[in-house]
Formats: sequence, structure tokens, C-alpha cells
Amino acid sequence: MDINTTDLFKKTPTEHEVHDLIKNRWSPRTFSDQPVSQKELQVLFEAGRWAPSSSNLQPWNIVWGIKGSEAYDRIMNVLVEFNQKWAKNAPVLLLGVVNTKTAKGDDNYHAPHDLGSFSANMALQAQSMGIAFHQMAGLDFEKAKKEFKFPDTYHVATAIAVGYYGGELSNVPDFLQEAETGERSRKKQNDFVFNGDYRETGDVKEE
Ligand SMILES: Cc1cc2nc3c(=O)[nH]c(=O)nc-3n(C[C@H](O)[C@H](O)[C@H](O)COP(=O)(O)O)c2cc1C
Repeated sequence: MDINTTDLFKKTPTEHEVHDLIKNRWSPRTFSDQPVSQKELQVLFEAGRWAPSSSNLQPWNIVWGIKGSEAYDRIMNVLVEFNQKWAKNAPVLLLGVVNTKTAKGDDNYHAPHDLGSFSANMALQAQSMGIAFHQMAGLDFEKAKKEFKFPDTYHVATAIAVGYYGGELSNVPDFLQEAETGERSRKKQNDFVFNGDYRETGDVKEE
């Protein structure tokens, strides 16, 4: 499916040319009214399913809810207030959850890394379908774990707002509107890539 979001692209000043799926992905806080179906979600989960993971442990778990359902409201309820203000625009909410232990009971230090790979696969598959992702660390992890009955060794790492790119700027509070249209920014490669020893390059300001 072609991406049909021409007037919704953000300026992305890359240092080198990269694939359009990577260049054009961004994290909006407004979404189109177009629903995302369960079938489309299954395609996204399938993309995640084929992500690599340490020892192929696949520590990821997903909770999903479509707007209007109980599951959606339960996910909304574990988000911090700041995220609730705009995540309500999304037709789908997800939680990304990891098992932090291996089957033998050892710590799986790579579990969050592998959930990140899962999420990146999903996000790029979504981008190819014109669907946007906005990941969130702003949620009550412990409340979410209890709410969805995950065992103790599990950690609810992220929530994700999912929906087609689009929607009105007025759907987000005034103080967030500039972020919907501004240029994207990143550290320079020189500030985090070392062909040898680490060298201090300074901190990045939080967004
Ligand atoms: C793990 C993770 C947690 C994030 N948490 C939040 C959040 O709680 N609230 C929010 O508004 N944005 C959140 N973001 C979105 C980032 O701020 C955003 O990805 C970053 O500013 C880069 O913007 P871009 O994705 O549009 O390139 C999060 C992103 C990631 C990957």
C-alpha cells in the first residue's frame, strides 16, 4: 500500500540518504479518524514477531485495544495524564511488555533491547501502510502489570498510540501544537559514533 500522507511529512535533515520508510516516520500526537482494523494489527504483530532476539527468546508480549472497547480504556487508564491528553486521538493503544527472566530463571538483560527490535519492526511495517506509531514511556508500569495480570518477572515497558497519520492540530493542547509541525532533530553522528575510544560529547535535551 502506498503512503498517502504527503502534506503530513515532517522535515527530516538526514546526514546521508536513508530509506523513505525511515526518513518519513515520525511520532505524531494527532491521528486521522480512519480506524485501524484487527487484521491490520495482526500484520503489525507479524512484523514484530520476525524481529531478532537474544537466543531467540522472544521476550515480548503485546496488549492491544481498539477505541470503544474495554481493553482500550484499560490501557488509557495506565497512561500518565500528559499522555492521556493526546493519546485519546489514537484509534488503537498497545502495551509492550517483556519477560525479564529466561525459562531457567536467569535475568534476561537483553529483553528491553529485543522489545525495541519488535517495536521498530512494527513501526516500519506500519509506516509502509501509512500508519503512525507514537511510543510512550509515560505510564504507570506497576499498575499496568497488575491491571493486565502479568506475573512478577514481567515489566510493562512502553505504551504505543497507533493510527493513520492525519487529524486536526486542534486535537492537541496548544502547547503541543508546535511539536506536530516542527523540524525533527537528532544528534550528529560525530557525537555518538566512535571508531575507537568513547569521547564526551555532551547531553541531549529531553523532548
Ligand atoms: C521508548 C520511548 C518512550 C517515549 N515516551 C514518550 C512519552 O511518554 N510521551 C510522549 O509524548 N512521547 C514519547 N516518546 C516519543 C519521543 O519523544 C519521540 O520519539 C522523539 O522525540 C523523536 O521524535 P520522532 O519519533 O518524531 O522522530 C517516546 C519514544 C520512545 C521510543
